[in-house]
Amino acid sequence: MDQIAKLIAAMTLEEKIGQLTMASGGYAVTGPEVSADISADVRAGRVGALLNLWGAEAVRAIQRTAVADSRLGIPLLIGLDVLHGHRTIFPIPLGEACAFDPELWTATAGAAAAEAARDGVSMVFAPMLDVARDPRWGRISEGAGEDPYVAGEFAKAKVRGFQGEDLALPDAVAATAKHFCAYGAALAGRDYASADVSERTLREVYLPPFAAALGAGCAAVMPAFMDLSGVPMTAHHALLRGWLRGEQRFEGVIVSDYNAIAELLRHGVAANLCEAAALALAAGVDIDMMSDGFRKGLPQALAEGRVSVEDINASVRRVLTLKQRLGLFDDAFRRKGGDDREPAEAARESVRELALTAAQRSIVVLTNDGVLPLPAGLGKIAVIGPLADARREMDGPWAMAADRDDCVTILEGLKGALPGTEIVFAEGVAIDGEEESRIAAALEICRGADIVLLCLGEAAAMSGEAASRACLGLPGRQEALARAAFSLGKPVVALLSSGRPLTLPWLFERASAAVATWFLGTEVGNAIADVLTGRFNPVGRLPVTWPRAVGQIPIFYAARPSGRPFDPIDPYTSKYLDCSVEPQFYFGHGLSYSRFALSNFAALQQRVGIGDVIRLSVDVVNEGSIEGEATVFLFARDIVASVARPVLELKRFAKIALGAGERDVLDFDFPAAELSFPGLDLQPCFEPGAFEFSVGFSANPKALMTLRLEVVAGI
Ligand code: GLC
Repeated sequence: MDQIAKLIAAMTLEEKIGQLTMASGGYAVTGPEVSADISADVRAGRVGALLNLWGAEAVRAIQRTAVADSRLGIPLLIGLDVLHGHRTIFPIPLGEACAFDPELWTATAGAAAAEAARDGVSMVFAPMLDVARDPRWGRISEGAGEDPYVAGEFAKAKVRGFQGEDLALPDAVAATAKHFCAYGAALAGRDYASADVSERTLREVYLPPFAAALGAGCAAVMPAFMDLSGVPMTAHHALLRGWLRGEQRFEGVIVSDYNAIAELLRHGVAANLCEAAALALAAGVDIDMMSDGFRKGLPQALAEGRVSVEDINASVRRVLTLKQRLGLFDDAFRRKGGDDREPAEAARESVRELALTAAQRSIVVLTNDGVLPLPAGLGKIAVIGPLADARREMDGPWAMAADRDDCVTILEGLKGALPGTEIVFAEGVAIDGEEESRIAAALEICRGADIVLLCLGEAAAMSGEAASRACLGLPGRQEALARAAFSLGKPVVALLSSGRPLTLPWLFERASAAVATWFLGTEVGNAIADVLTGRFNPVGRLPVTWPRAVGQIPIFYAARPSGRPFDPIDPYTSKYLDCSVEPQFYFGHGLSYSRFALSNFAALQQRVGIGDVIRLSVDVVNEGSIEGEATVFLFARDIVASVARPVLELKRFAKIALGAGERDVLDFDFPAAELSFPGLDLQPCFEPGAFEFSVGFSANPKALMTLRLEVVAGI
């Protein structure tokens, strides 16, 4: 009998349910707080995992209670939301996705894991893999945008980074793919609201990123709060037991979201905690995060035969197996600081360098009339707006362990980068609120300035969880400040700090340049200064379609064609009477200081079989005067199939660095089998026929190079 079987055999029912219970350490509040004496619960074996606790000393103390004072000495899982950094903060995931750089995504996850592990954390509630096509939803900031392929690449990269080669290594933490699934399809973009998604869209869009995470060995999964077409994900037997544990053969841990088991009563699918606990356990949930549902409901559920001892033992086994894989039974104190690891300070410096790189690569230049990069020798720059020196906003949402005073603000970064330039600052207006009295003073400092930098956007708390917005303009009186600045007739560069695309057509029309700076974390000021001055040639590209108006939402490039696709000369086609159907910016949009062009897009084969690898190539040239990095997207379209297929589907993206005037060839090789899709019976199917392949710098259909290829069933 193995160690885990022996443990389970020795455990009382209360101790078994304790291993299925995660309580809060109280260092951060990420949901309805339930206070309790954690040590007593741990000592009695009533809690097997904690969240929202970090710091080597604090974790060592509570771990010692578990290992030395409890009857069976089972170590604790210590979980925390390490979504984009731990002590050192990287760009929010929506920002980092703009880099289209899996190596970077892995590196930042690895650095965050090491910092978190040094603080005793062994499990992170990340990566967040919810495909999001509705920027009203504040949690769009936490994921990799609108595209399932990008989210899948993001998933694999992040799981690799967090978990490393071996979960038992001291810098490795268990990753949690969340929030399973289709959470980003919340009705009207309102967080926690129902999502009504077809089985087809589930399989085409929302499930693939989770399949990718599981394929990369992700240790845990967290179901989403909401109901999916009436079935709360926390009790979704078909998707948890059926797809996750059945089709995907996932043997890892399923941890509920915060209080989600108890919230099955509010969903109206359970009359009491006994029913809620039974539903969740039967669906496959192993750990109850903070609802006390398992502790209060499972004994009665067992007594009433709603669950079996075998069900409980199976969950306990999965939790103990994860602890074993993490090396916690061998050494519960393995994840800690202390002098046997690289000194924290030296590690911090190398992580800050990575934070700068990540921030630089996440910045997207949306418009530029030539004002950027800023010319050398500027005499005076006026920096105005509420995000210019907003130190405590720059980390964005989900940065609990960060020292928010640690970040370099935009204003500080500019001053550091331009010591010979007079840089004056005035906030003008607050991020939110109706006060306009300081706008005049802000305009005053702009007089005599060569250029105005407008630092606008959202507060950190205006995106992330429970932060949906119905209107996606600038909060407060920022628009009044911006319009006043535009009235000066000077070059104005708008820097947008936000957790989502903002609908600002009036600003994009008037600004000399507009830059999406998201929330870039610790090195925000230095990264923005590097891009504005040209020290870093921007490479960021949008992982989401940027709407012109809220009325266009949901808006995304991979839409189905419709029987009446928009045609400007035919009124009976899909359109609005009062708004363009075009987005403000397409998926993949982003400007460089170089100028790239594509040519000679070609397929190596004219006909390929389903078992072949499709080989395509395209020439890329840098026609600009400075070296830069282009991002090239490869899309496919199944022209005729048994199901209406999207007009474009991203199959690959690639980066290529080119010197001024340099030309190179970019090859795309991918298995023809990736052209399969959920057929009429929703099972994966491949249908031979003509396919269109397109390459471009974005999903803008007017700027794609396209070729056709016959793909046949067998060659
Ligand atoms: C929150 C979030 C989830 C997070 C968890 C623990 O409510 O929905 O993303 O991991 O609680 O903080």
